Amino acid sequence: MKKIIAANWKMNKNIDEALSFVNILESKLTEELQNSEVLIYPPFVSIYPLKDLCSKVKLGAQNFYYKEKGAFTGEISTLMLKGLVDFVLIGHSERRHIFNESLDLINKKVLVAVENDFSSMLCIGESLEEKESGKTIKVLKEQLETAYKDVDFNKVKRLSVAYEPIWAIGTGRVAGAEEIEDIHKEIRVQLKKIAGKALSDEAHILYGGSVKPSNSKELLSKENINGLLIGGASLQINDFFDIIQNSEKINK
Ligand code: PGA
Repeated sequence: MKKIIAANWKMNKNIDEALSFVNILESKLTEELQNSEVLIYPPFVSIYPLKDLCSKVKLGAQNFYYKEKGAFTGEISTLMLKGLVDFVLIGHSERRHIFNESLDLINKKVLVAVENDFSSMLCIGESLEEKESGKTIKVLKEQLETAYKDVDFNKVKRLSVAYEPIWAIGTGRVAGAEEIEDIHKEIRVQLKKIAGKALSDEAHILYGGSVKPSNSKELLSKENINGLLIGGASLQINDFFDIIQNSEKINK
């Protein structure tokens, strides 16, 4: 299975900076990618101008609202994203915690993404308090079950889930690769119960939280770490490129 190397730019880079980054990245990716799928989640305003520049790189949307259109000031819908992005990110912990997105809203977004044929990348993760009280698996299970409630999995072509422990995002604190591998195995078990064997076997389970070139190699060497969702380090072209190179070197 190819690894997904995804950049989550969050609220960073204006259009010029985004164009320049992707121009350089596309020119650095001289050889055909063998083991990796490269994906960038830019801010909304850069998606359209980036579209024509991308050949090896895929684009995703960091967020959207679940209604198709109407009086929802400031929101963007899947109808507007059609033809522009392949992936949509759903339930990032910053959306859950800064913008108070509920489990119910996240479920509505997953349902809309499926109906509109986007690959949804669902973010899940526990807080430090939940981790320390041994509740990690319970929390992840609840986040998966509620997000995928009522989803018609016959319509789902591929599943991707990003495991991002909240305490590891932007903190420099990374969970151990072995520990993440075990958690990813458990996520796959839960996905099997929810979505069936075929989709869960093929599901990409990514890790996110303080990924750097220096720790990416070990993380990517694990069988059940099928990709990385990278915030801070994805803003630097050299760091992001190094992580892609590390992924290309792994033959799994
Ligand atoms: P980080 O962010 O790599 O800066 O920790 C990851 C994310 O929030 O997706």
